[in-house]
Amino acid sequence: MELSEAVAVVTGGGAGIGAALARRLSREGARVVVNDLDKTRATRIAREVGGHAVACDASTDAGVDRLLSEARGTYGEIDLFCANAGVARGGGAEAPDEAWATSWEVNVMAHVRAARALLPAWLARGRGHFLATVSAAGLLSHVTAAPYAVSKHGTLAFAEWLSIVHGDQGITVQALCPQGVRTDMLLGGDDAGRALLLDDALTPEEVADTAVGELGSGRFLILPHPEVARYELHRATDRERWLAGMRRISERVKSAGSKSTESAGDHPPSPPPP
Ligand SMILES: NC(=O)c1ccc[n+]([C@@H]2O[C@H](COP(=O)([O-])OP(=O)(O)OC[C@H]3O[C@@H](n4cnc5c(N)ncnc54)[C@H](O)[C@@H]3O)[C@@H](O)[C@H]2O)c1
Repeated sequence: MELSEAVAVVTGGGAGIGAALARRLSREGARVVVNDLDKTRATRIAREVGGHAVACDASTDAGVDRLLSEARGTYGEIDLFCANAGVARGGGAEAPDEAWATSWEVNVMAHVRAARALLPAWLARGRGHFLATVSAAGLLSHVTAAPYAVSKHGTLAFAEWLSIVHGDQGITVQALCPQGVRTDMLLGGDDAGRALLLDDALTPEEVADTAVGELGSGRFLILPHPEVARYELHRATDRERWLAGMRRISERVKSAGSKSTESAGDHPPSPPPP
């Protein structure tokens, strides 16, 4: 897609991957609307990229309405919507309902609500680009965070659905699925996540470079860690073996709490992304 003068909205753009996306898009000449729950962060990044800040909750109908109407009022119709804001809630079945509900609202419903508000104008003009920040957890799993893994599968499923139903109507949908990325989400998360993912973690700038570089291709999956494609293939073609590998990782995390040096071999269990 042509990014020069394009109108781009980035949710959760005040930090991490979202801030890196905002910076990179602005370098490409886009006019960027930076959204974040945190006003100070949104304002700082918007100033830095010469864009417009909208501080609101991108997961609510009211927040989406405000974000879209300010973006349209400031720059005109939105060309690229980066549904990037996300939350990482850990735990298993014992995780409180609040963790599951928040994960659902932010990781899934924010995307549904944005698409609901964007599609009428996009379909009318036959053009629109929706970049969903998912996670490799949406393709694979996450051994210490069931609410995250389950909700990210929902994020990916909704992006696929949008692509299936609207992909031939001028709507491009892409799913950005990194493993570990050196942001507050990973660095401030639990020890197990850091131990498993930090060694191979990318910087948010590297992830944004890959994502923005792939916008023109329109290919659905964007994998900053290319090995994730192999892990997904293993999951699809030999589920029993993949599950057994994931159980080994889960056990290792539970018993050791630190990263094993065991080689993953050529049929690796996929490490759990955040
Ligand atoms: N960090 C990783 O290792 C990693 C890996 C794969 C995918 N992801 C995904 O990338 C996305 C960005 O994560 P990050 O690592 O940059 O996180 P981060 O915590 O560093 O930054 C997220 C930003 O989003 C904002 N935010 C949270 N909820 C919001 C809401 N409802 N409305 C508006 N803003 C909101 C936060 O205030 C924060 O500034 C998330 O969807 C995350 O799941 C992260």
